[in-house]
Amino acid sequence: MFDVIKELLDADKNETSECQDWLVQNNSSYEEYYLEENISDKPYRLYRFLTDLEDILDNIADDYDRLKAICPLVRKLLNISYWLQLEYDSPSPDVGWSVKTLYQEPNYPITIQTVAWLPNHASPVHNHAAWGVVGIIQGQENNRFWRRNPTPENPERIELINEKILVPGDIIGFMPDAIHSVETMGDYPTVTFNIYGEADFSRRYQFDPINHTAKNF
Ligand SMILES: [Fe+2]
Repeated sequence: MFDVIKELLDADKNETSECQDWLVQNNSSYEEYYLEENISDKPYRLYRFLTDLEDILDNIADDYDRLKAICPLVRKLLNISYWLQLEYDSPSPDVGWSVKTLYQEPNYPITIQTVAWLPNHASPVHNHAAWGVVGIIQGQENNRFWRRNPTPENPERIELINEKILVPGDIIGFMPDAIHSVETMGDYPTVTFNIYGEADFSRRYQFDPINHTAKNF
C-alpha cells in the first residue's frame, strides 16, 4: 500500500516539477525556465492584463526581456481566467483551423487570439518577425525549431535543430527571428492562446526547407 502511495507521490512530484515554460531565441535554440504559479481567488481581468502588458512595452525595449516579463502574466491569466480557455471557434472543416481574435486595436502593436486546429495538421515553416507568446489550452502540438544554415548556392537554406511536444499548460515565447513549424497531434483539436507584438512584415518569411527558398507572407 505504502509503495503505491509513494509511486503516486513521486509521479505527482515529477509532474509538478517538469518544466512548462520555454523561450525560443532568435537562433531557434530554446531555454527552459520555471515560472511561479499564480494561484489566487482574485480575478485577473483581461483589461488589467492588457494594462500590465502596455506597461511592459512602455518600460522594456528589449524583446527578450519583454518575453521574460510577459510570459508570467500569460500564465497568471490562463490560470485564473478560465473563461478564456473556452473562447475559441471550432476549426473550420474546410481549412482545418480557425482563429478568434480576442483583442486587436488599430495602431497598437498587440494581437491576442485563440487558434484551434484539427489534429494532424501542419503549418508551414515560418518566423513571425514579432515577439510572440503561445499557451497550450487543449490538445498537443509538435513544435519543430529550425535555423538558418546558408550555403553559397542556397542562401535561404534552413535546417531542423530540435523539436518539442507541447501539452496543455505549456507556455512558449518566441523571439522575432525564431523559425518554427507546428504539427497538431492526438485525437482532438489543439487550442492555443496566442499574443503577438507588431510584425515587421519585410522580415517575416515562410521557408521551404526542401527547395531552400524563403518568401515574405
Ligand atoms: Fe508560428
